[in-house]
Amino acid sequence: MSSKRSFIKNFWKEKKMVGSMAPSSRFLAKKMLESIDFQHSKVIVELGPGNGVFTRKILEQLRPDGVLLVFELNDEFMALLKKEFHDPRVHLIHDSAEKIGDYLHKFGLKQADAVISSLPLANFPQELKERILKESHKVMHEKALYVQFQYSLNAKSHIKSTFKKVSISFTPANFPPAFVYTCRK
Ligand SMILES: C[S@@+](CC[C@H](N)C(=O)[O-])C[C@H]1O[C@@H](n2cnc3c(N)ncnc32)[C@H](O)[C@@H]1O
Repeated sequence: MSSKRSFIKNFWKEKKMVGSMAPSSRFLAKKMLESIDFQHSKVIVELGPGNGVFTRKILEQLRPDGVLLVFELNDEFMALLKKEFHDPRVHLIHDSAEKIGDYLHKFGLKQADAVISSLPLANFPQELKERILKESHKVMHEKALYVQFQYSLNAKSHIKSTFKKVSISFTPANFPPAFVYTCRK
């Protein structure tokens, strides 16, 4: 099955978890990654890669000695990711995003330089949303970035209460149009 069809199928199967009927556009991918200083970012964490639309772009820019930890819960997306990504810099983790700290520790890494999240936070129970945001904040070093897209401003207050500096931009060139939060500690 193509990865686009896989998206639609999994949306109907697990609406709240997948959160979208189609993969993000290249415009949104560009917006999500434009604030990351790839030259100085060694450890990058991606939450909710789906069919890997951002993963591909991250790998194009990741340092040769960089590490990318990718968290995806959905079985079918994980199978697609495993088929496509054989880059030794990538660790595909079939587990929930709230376990970032455990896995960084497991791979002998201390902190992350960037966390790039596509998680549909607005659909999550409050407790899970808070756990993931707090865990992301905890693993980031002082100058690290947390970048998150959302289709609404529903999660704004949670994001703002977790991070000290938050800037929000809007990308109409995506289906649905998206807000991008760029956050610092
Ligand atoms: C809106 S889709 C985004 C996919 C892709 N990054 C894109 O932009 O097209 C959200 C993704 O988050 C994944 N997801 C949802 N909850 C998760 C969790 N707790 N941990 C890891 N991944 C999760 C879903 O399976 C889905 O692939």
